[in-house]
Amino acid sequence: MISLIAAVGKNWELGKNGDLIFHIKEDMRYFKETTMGHKVVMGRKTWESLPRKLPGRENIVASRGEIPDADLVIHDLNKYLQENENTSEEIFIIGGGMVYFAALPYAKYIYLTEVEAEDERADSYFPEFDKLKYNREVIKEGKSDDLAYTFVKYTKK
Ligand SMILES: NC(=O)c1ccc[n+]([C@@H]2O[C@H](COP(=O)([O-])OP(=O)(O)OC[C@H]3O[C@@H](n4cnc5c(N)ncnc54)[C@H](OP(=O)(O)O)[C@@H]3O)[C@@H](O)[C@H]2O)c1
Repeated sequence: MISLIAAVGKNWELGKNGDLIFHIKEDMRYFKETTMGHKVVMGRKTWESLPRKLPGRENIVASRGEIPDADLVIHDLNKYLQENENTSEEIFIIGGGMVYFAALPYAKYIYLTEVEAEDERADSYFPEFDKLKYNREVIKEGKSDDLAYTFVKYTKK
């Protein structure tokens, strides 16, 4: 099955200048715990934003080019998503905007960290989705350095 995991601002902001907008320690920990041991799929730009390969996870990168250090490179993302939509293992799509957009129709679960903040200088956004088609479960609410956030898990009905 396909799961998306992302941290978004009030206007669905994801990133700017090739980096994250919100740096929330608890969110980093939650991301690590949730994805550990699983396959993680990311776009080439997100891959380039990482300081290193994500340990303990198979790092799969979508690109039309070659990525020598990736565990696997996907040239045809839609084909990969179609083939893995109904697998029993949970595969995490970890961004960025282009890859979330492609993967959204296949997602059984969407793990969103909803951050109570906005940034008009954002240059990548999470795709809008119809929340009526999902059950919304609040996992945890918290505050970090004055940033209020909620971990929410959406499950497709
Ligand atoms: N807030 C969050 O949770 C979060 C999570 C992840 C990333 N981000 C942020 O998001 C931003 C990056 O997002 P982005 O949308 O600019 O880029 P991205 O989705 O990370 O990467 C885009 C690249 O992925 C490849 N790609 C996309 N669709 C493809 C397809 N259908 N088939 C094959 N390859 C495909 C292409 O690589 P090639 O050009 O090599 O062909 C494309 O240029 C950064 O600012 C990052 O920090 C935020």
